Amino acid sequence: MNSSTIVVLAHIINPQSDKKCDFIKNGALLLKKNRTKKNYFIQEIGPQKKVLAKVIDECQVIDYSDHVIIPSFFDMHFHWVQDDVRQMPKADLLHWLENYTFPAETKFANKAYTKKKAKVFFKRLVQTGTLGGACYSSIHPHATEEAFEHAVGDFVIGNVLMTMNSPKSLTQTKKEALDSVKFLAKKYKQNYALTPRFAIATDPQTMLATGAIAKKNKSFIQSHLSETQGEISFVTNLYKELEGFEKIKSYTEIYKKVGLLTPKTIMGHGIHLSVEELQLLKGTQTAIAHCPTSNAPIRQKGLGSGLFNFKKIERYGLRWALGSDIGGGPFLSMFDVMRSFVEQNKKAGVSGANYKKALYRATLAGAEILQKDKKLGNLNPLKEANFLVLPKINSQLKMNPESILEFYVKKGQKNRAKFDDLVEKVFYQGKLIYNKRA
Ligand code: GUN
Ligand code: FE
Repeated sequence: MNSSTIVVLAHIINPQSDKKCDFIKNGALLLKKNRTKKNYFIQEIGPQKKVLAKVIDECQVIDYSDHVIIPSFFDMHFHWVQDDVRQMPKADLLHWLENYTFPAETKFANKAYTKKKAKVFFKRLVQTGTLGGACYSSIHPHATEEAFEHAVGDFVIGNVLMTMNSPKSLTQTKKEALDSVKFLAKKYKQNYALTPRFAIATDPQTMLATGAIAKKNKSFIQSHLSETQGEISFVTNLYKELEGFEKIKSYTEIYKKVGLLTPKTIMGHGIHLSVEELQLLKGTQTAIAHCPTSNAPIRQKGLGSGLFNFKKIERYGLRWALGSDIGGGPFLSMFDVMRSFVEQNKKAGVSGANYKKALYRATLAGAEILQKDKKLGNLNPLKEANFLVLPKINSQLKMNPESILEFYVKKGQKNRAKFDDLVEKVFYQGKLIYNKRA
């Protein structure tokens, strides 16, 4: 594909917000090659006739008529080193961490193993259509470096910090934790995510000191917050015994006190939050990654952590986006995550959780939180040409984004693992980087 102009024909779904999702039946994307780089960006999006009329140079036309194009996904919370524990028995969070997750992450101490796993995992992630997001690695700095090396797309990535209440094989000294952050934050800057695992496993001095390093390097910050009741009682009882924290009233207050709540912070889960905690998050402009497949009941392969109250989060004006929480979540595909968000809310009688909203929260909302929405997140003009080609749609289908997205979800839901293979083609910066049928 060497032309400097490409026209892609398909039906196009282009999310803009919770309520607004553009749909162009028989649409076209006009891609232009960036002069300095070799990447393509979107110059025009619209009905085929209108777009084709604007083409003046020689161009290549790629015809995906009857197929649907959507922007590539952002997965705003996942652990790349937990690929092997996605399907392990889950009783509750702390039990699953101790019995399956920590032993699995310990293996990443080995560099050759880490490299092999990174190659496989990030290749698979592309095939599911995820080209951006926020990623947790193990404690080992080389595992974060391998992740950066193999990840395709726009990710912030960080090594988890574990200085207490952790198995011996994963416990770092405070100095080791601090040195790893100094090294990686300096190397990756705004693509680095300072990642204290959670306040149970990272001591407050380390959180405070590394938070300052993250801010200096303009890095992001990510951690877990209020995922389960067991975790909340553990952490609040623990910190009440620590000097300077005797008076803390909540889990969120711990992170506030060590300076980790910022506009560049993404807290995972946030299911069980009081009004005071929501106000703290709002006041600091902290964002939340909601992981419905991980929080889902155990019979649905989740950790049974509870239902995220998105309406309350929105009422407080908090930014939030969807994540898979691999391996708390069992499947890589953001289609499965969108399905779980819609289905769980529907079952609980909560209105407003539809597929249009889910798509926005699985794409543009993530790019907004990562402050990359000027060039990523949807298919608006001047953005990078990062998109997915989905299977042909049934001609009987109602031609609107809600019905079309539901059609794809219905296709995969009998066997959820199949969502990971739903995407037919993946384009990154205008280049075909995955073709299922090739
Ligand atoms: N809390 C602390 N560590 C983890 C983790 O690895 N997964 C999930 N879901 N929650 C956590
Ligand atoms: Fe997690």
